[in-house]
Amino acid sequence: MSTTIDPKIAAETEKRRAFAIIAHPDAGKTTLTEKLLLYGGAIHLAGHVRARKDRKKTRSDWMKMEQDRGISVSTAALQFAYEGYYLNLLDTPGHEDFSEDTYRTLMAVDAAVMLLDAGKGVEPQTIKLFRVCQDRGIPIVTFINKMDMPALDPFALMDNIEKVLGITAVPQLWPMGSGQDFKGVYDLRSSKVHRYERVAGGAFPSPEETGGLDDPELEKIMDPELYTNFREGAELAQEALPPFDPEEFRTGRISPVFFGSAGNNFGVQLFLDRFIELCPPPEPILLRDERILEPAATDFTGFIFKLQANMNQKHRDRVAFLRVISGAFERGMSVNHARTKKSVRLSSPVSFFGQDRSTVDEAYPGDIIGLINPGTFQIGDILYTGSVEPAFEGIPRFAPEMFARLIPTDTSKLKAFRKGLQQLSEEGVVQVFTAPDGQGVLGAVGNLQFDVFRFRMEDEYGAPCRLESLGYECSRWIRDEDRSKFSSYDWVIKDQEDRPVVLFKSEYRLENFLKNNPEVPLYEHPPYVLPA
Ligand code: G4P
Repeated sequence: MSTTIDPKIAAETEKRRAFAIIAHPDAGKTTLTEKLLLYGGAIHLAGHVRARKDRKKTRSDWMKMEQDRGISVSTAALQFAYEGYYLNLLDTPGHEDFSEDTYRTLMAVDAAVMLLDAGKGVEPQTIKLFRVCQDRGIPIVTFINKMDMPALDPFALMDNIEKVLGITAVPQLWPMGSGQDFKGVYDLRSSKVHRYERVAGGAFPSPEETGGLDDPELEKIMDPELYTNFREGAELAQEALPPFDPEEFRTGRISPVFFGSAGNNFGVQLFLDRFIELCPPPEPILLRDERILEPAATDFTGFIFKLQANMNQKHRDRVAFLRVISGAFERGMSVNHARTKKSVRLSSPVSFFGQDRSTVDEAYPGDIIGLINPGTFQIGDILYTGSVEPAFEGIPRFAPEMFARLIPTDTSKLKAFRKGLQQLSEEGVVQVFTAPDGQGVLGAVGNLQFDVFRFRMEDEYGAPCRLESLGYECSRWIRDEDRSKFSSYDWVIKDQEDRPVVLFKSEYRLENFLKNNPEVPLYEHPPYVLPA
């Protein structure tokens, strides 16, 4: 692996930001995404903003199910340019039910925007997503949305973030009231006031005026109590709250906090400008063999973090999403495929914008590209040039928490059934296991995964099936030699790589086993096999 740095790649890397928005459903993720794209020159989205219903259809018609259920179950990557930067926004599903897809997407970003509803603070889904980001040690920027609606007190919101998530919240802006009384934000760093005015539809940036804290206008636009509260709060925030330490931020220990209203497009640009400045471009990665992989190295490296079949029902094609880690990607280049040890030519790379796709000629660290996948790629696959395979950690599989027996309901469709099962399990929609009697067992971390699986089997493959829930609540990978340690009450099945996995009836049973058999190792992720 070459550690030669290419100045052009280094310059391109500096301009990349790869991030995701994490939020509880309804906090305004779709709305914020649209507003960000608006600043990125994606002007044609403005129409969608006004006609929300249309927009919902366009954005999510990859899967009919999303329309039917009003949720986003697929994950897209959108790239937009802003002020000379290229922002890669990876869309995480916003349904309350958690899925492995979300975890994997968060493996491909360098930062996250945590979006909170100002009236609600931290919600259950925010916590789960936050934990994944925190485990990865990536920076998290907080945007408190819907300030035009009645909001919790800003100090209470800071407190809520710290108490529930254990991260120090450092406000960058301070709100002037909320709801009907929302008058704008005070920038604690530049000491400038940005005033808010309601604009119909919010399709264009809210007019903003700037002035200092002593601007006499402020007293005129706020009633005396609101004004006093705001001044005291802003002064206290400026003096008493912890200083912003960039290093603590980069490692995910403190989170800068912004306030605004995505719906009214207020505070979004302020946020975006600061986000680009605060968030790091793709950084060097420490490999398992202790070597450092520099993003600007001349050798190309990328990994597949998501597969999606049938993105276009007409073409019935499968797409593998690749995140560039190092080097420059060029259309038509040949790369080594680490798992199969074969050389692959990447001749038809694409980027997506809803249903529209365009050909990608080049890409740099932080970028996401789609590769048409005739079955070549799997999740976690590493593609690279150069002579040494980079030893990545890989994308973890998660120990499923719910299990079901899979039963085809139309025996004349067995061929389609097998194809669907194979493709959807490759995509990671569900995990597939084999019971000792040879029957298939599906595993998932959330019920939604089962629903998506069943729907897609029927819709995309014409192979209807039934899932019969099995009464197990948790699972762990085990060593082959430990099989006999488990009673028949627990159930040892095999994953697709023939590794034994034990299913426990309950969390209590698992804990009991651990207590009584401390010498038997149980693995939450499949034991990792080092590449030869
Ligand atoms: P999600 O993707 O996180 O689930 O949220 P989404 O953007 O769909 O927003 C959820 C609801 O919150 C939407 O209302 C949206 O208009 C509203 N919203 C988003 N940002 C703001 C904001 O800053 N202020 C206010 N007041 N509302 C906001 P909806 O009723 O579900 O849809 P629609 O009737 O607006 O189409």
